[in-house]
Amino acid sequence: MAISLYLLLTLVSIIFLKLFKHSNSQLPPSPPALPIIGNLHQLGELPHQSLWRLSKKYGPVIFMKLGTVPMIVVSTPDTARQALRVFDLNCCSRPSLAGIPLTNYSFHFYCLWKHNRWVSSGSRKLSYNYKDIAFSPFDDYWKEVRKLSVQELFNIKRVHSIQPIKYEEMRKLMTSFAESASKKSPVNLSEKLLSLTASVVCRASFGVSFQDTVLDSERFNELVPEALEILGSFSASDFYPYVGWILDRFTGLHKRRERSAQDLDAFCEQMIDLHLKKNKEDENEDFVDLLMKLEKEEVVLGQAKFTRNNIKALLINILLAGIDTSAITMTWAMAELSRNPRLMKKVQSEIREKYGDKELISLEETEELEYMKMASRVNVWAIGRDPDAWKDPEEFIPERFMDNNIDVKGQNFELLPFGSGRRICPAVYMGSKMVEFGLANLLNRFDWELPEGMECEDMKMEEAPGLTIYKKHDLLLVPVKR
Ligand code: HEM
Repeated sequence: MAISLYLLLTLVSIIFLKLFKHSNSQLPPSPPALPIIGNLHQLGELPHQSLWRLSKKYGPVIFMKLGTVPMIVVSTPDTARQALRVFDLNCCSRPSLAGIPLTNYSFHFYCLWKHNRWVSSGSRKLSYNYKDIAFSPFDDYWKEVRKLSVQELFNIKRVHSIQPIKYEEMRKLMTSFAESASKKSPVNLSEKLLSLTASVVCRASFGVSFQDTVLDSERFNELVPEALEILGSFSASDFYPYVGWILDRFTGLHKRRERSAQDLDAFCEQMIDLHLKKNKEDENEDFVDLLMKLEKEEVVLGQAKFTRNNIKALLINILLAGIDTSAITMTWAMAELSRNPRLMKKVQSEIREKYGDKELISLEETEELEYMKMASRVNVWAIGRDPDAWKDPEEFIPERFMDNNIDVKGQNFELLPFGSGRRICPAVYMGSKMVEFGLANLLNRFDWELPEGMECEDMKMEEAPGLTIYKKHDLLLVPVKR
C-alpha cells in the first residue's frame, strides 16, 4: 500500500515537474527534486546510506526537500564542524513538526536563516509534545532539564556510584553464558546485551529492575526497538503537514505509533506507581523520586509548571536514548571482532595480560585497556567512510586511533559517535563506560566462536532501519570458557 501511494505521488510529480521547475542559486547543490514529493524518492530503506551516496555525487553540503520540508545534509568533518561548532547556535534546535536524526548529520530548516536538527512526528507523541531533552527545541526548558539530568544522572560520580548494579547484572549474564558454554550452544548476543543495558539503565535511573515491570522479557525486546524504528521512520505527516496523516493511516504507521506510545505510557505509569508506594524511610532517592518532587512542588521549568507528562517524557527519553545505544555499540564491536579473529586475539591478549585472573574487571580497570577502547569506537556513517579523513575507511582497523589524540567527546569532527556542540549526548561518559565495561568482561572470561558450520565470510553485517542502527540479523556466538 505504501509503495503504491508513493508511486502515485511520483507519477503526479513527474507530470507537474516542468510546470513548477525553478532554481535558487543561493542554495547548496541539490539532487533533482520532483514537485510534491521533493527528494523523497531518492531515499531508500536506510536513509543515512542513501544520503551518503547522494553526497558523493553532489558534494559535502546538499540541499534537499522531503515533501514540503527543506533539509541540509552535511557529510564531511569540515562541514560538520561548520554546523556543530561555527553555527551551532543556529543549528541546535529541533523542528516542531517531525523527522529523523540521520547519521550524515542532517539539518532541517524552516527558513533560510534558521537551521534545526531533524526529528520525527513519532517524537512528538513519544515526548509528550517535546517535553523531553532529545526532542525539545533549544529553549529555557531544554537548558534546565538538560542541566538537571547532567547534575543528577549523567555525571561521573553517579556513573561510579552505580558500579554495584553493573557488577550484579554482569555476574548474572556471565552465569547464563557459562551455562550455554557447557552445552556448547550459541547465545543471542544482540538480545543479551540489550537486556544487560536495560537492566543497568532501569535500575540506575529508575531504581527498579525492568524484570519487575510491564517491560518484562519478550515484550521489552520488542518495545524499545519498535519505538526506535517508529522514531526513525519516514512519516508522511512530517512532509505534508496538513494531509500527511491520511497517508500514515493507510500505511499503518499511525496505528503503530499510537500502540507504541500507549505501551511506553503504561511503563511510565507503573514506574511512577512503584515510587508512590515506596517506603518513605527508603533514603535512596533516585531520578524518578527527584522528578516527582518537582511535580509535587509545582516547580516551574522554562515557562511552565513541571507536570506528570514532563516526568514521563524524560523517563521515555532515558529508556530510548540510554539502552540500545550502548548495547548496539557492543554488538557491532563483537561482530567485527568475531569476523576478524586476529584482532579478537589481540584485544583478548591485552585484557588477559592485565586482568586474566579477575572474576570481574572494574570500571576503573577498563581505563588501562587502550586497544580494547580503540576497537569499540563507532562513528557517524558518512564521516566514518570519508577517504579524506580516514585511510581504508571500510576496514575494521582499531590501530587507526593509535598515536593520534582523536577522542569521542565532540572536539574531533572526524569521529562523532556522540555528536558535538550544544546537543552533544549528555551521557558520553556513562555510555562509553558501559560499552568498555561490557566488552572487557565478555572478552576476558570467554572465547567466542561462530556457530557450527559458519565461517567468518558468512557473517551477515546488514543494518536495520531506525533511529539507532541495529544489526539486522541477531549476533549468535558460542561462548567457550577458558
Ligand atoms: C554508546 C552509547 C551512546 C551513544 C553512541 C549515544 C549517542 C548520542 C547521539 C549521537 C546523540 C545526538 C546528538 C545530536 O543531536 O547531535 C545523543 C543524544 C542524547 N543521548 Fe546519547 N548516546 C549514548 C548513550 C546514552 C545514554 C546511556 C543515555 C542516557 C542514559 C543517553 C541520553 C541521551 C540524551 C538525553 C540525548 C539528547 C541530548 C539533547 O538533545 O540535548 N545517551 N546520544
